[in-house]
Amino acid sequence: DKGTYPYYMLKEIDEQPNVMRKLSSKYLNSDGKPVVDNDLLDAIKQSDRLYIVAAGTSYHAGLVGKNLFEKLAQVPTEVHVASEFAYNMPLLADKPFFIFLSQSGETADSREVLVNINRLGYKSLTITNVENSTLSRESNYTLLLHAGPEISVASTKAYTAQITVEAILAKALGESDNVEAAQNFNLKQQLGLVATGMQAIVDEKETINELSKKYFVNANRSFYIGRGIDYFVSLESSLKLKEISYILAEGFASGELKHGTIALIEKGTPVIGIITQSNTAGLTRSNLEETMARGAKTITITTESLAKDNDDIVIPDVDELLTPLLSVIPAQLLAYYTSLNKGLDVDHPRNLAKSVTVQ
Ligand code: F6R
Repeated sequence: DKGTYPYYMLKEIDEQPNVMRKLSSKYLNSDGKPVVDNDLLDAIKQSDRLYIVAAGTSYHAGLVGKNLFEKLAQVPTEVHVASEFAYNMPLLADKPFFIFLSQSGETADSREVLVNINRLGYKSLTITNVENSTLSRESNYTLLLHAGPEISVASTKAYTAQITVEAILAKALGESDNVEAAQNFNLKQQLGLVATGMQAIVDEKETINELSKKYFVNANRSFYIGRGIDYFVSLESSLKLKEISYILAEGFASGELKHGTIALIEKGTPVIGIITQSNTAGLTRSNLEETMARGAKTITITTESLAKDNDDIVIPDVDELLTPLLSVIPAQLLAYYTSLNKGLDVDHPRNLAKSVTVQ
């Protein structure tokens, strides 16, 4: 039931602070220690490489997860699009462990990979929102997203829940291996900050509605740019905008733009820069200026500590590994309002189904 909300998508965006709190209470004890099945941790510790396999938004959550697993648990991690991996399997490490990310647990592309790797005898974990879903039943381990039903076709709270569960698992793995970065990572405190930060952003949604009306409703193409983790959020942000507003949006590694694609910038083309990482903030700002010099209308999403006077959307500071949990919220809202302002059916975009059960 969407209650007083005009669309499920807005309700689901608004639910994210509570999903963060719920995951914190489900998976972290009062000391902040992760509560994760020891068999699962042992199975992963016997492997030498993680393979995250997923589609769409879940794939984008996997990209963010790579940084978490590599930095907090020091496990080399690859992230693959399921439909590609299924028919063009890379040369695997000696002892691979697979993680399937899937809101629905029913995505046929991911299932094809799972069937193949089961046949090869490799172990796997499914991180899903749906208990007893196909992927959950057919893999060795399951971690639930506890996000509540996600009805809108455009995925929002499942994305942030997936990143959070990856962070919990990465911390659990790192701590069990005495990795200092994991021991020092106060995830419980961070998730509290994230929940409060998300609430602050959704409370300011009208600002994003204004940006949508001013720069997006009449745009025919747009860009999200960033580096590293901000690039991964750019991919997700542009997917959101494309699928429900039908505006062509590219998520781009900001340094790569000048190698060709910058030719597409015209007077008024909206370019959103995501700037949450201190080591690349200056570089992304220069790349934004390059687009501005070609006529782009630039908009910035930055964290408080990296913000400059004329930044457009400033989000609260959290650990740099977790900034996607906040930087994606304005992008979700921008997609929502642009769809709404164009008079489209936000929850049921054309040509799309909630779960994709064909290859
Ligand atoms: C985008 C979206 C899709 C799904 C993708 C995978 O908003 O919803 O890209 O993320 O179809 O679905 P799941 O996560 O159910 O495997």
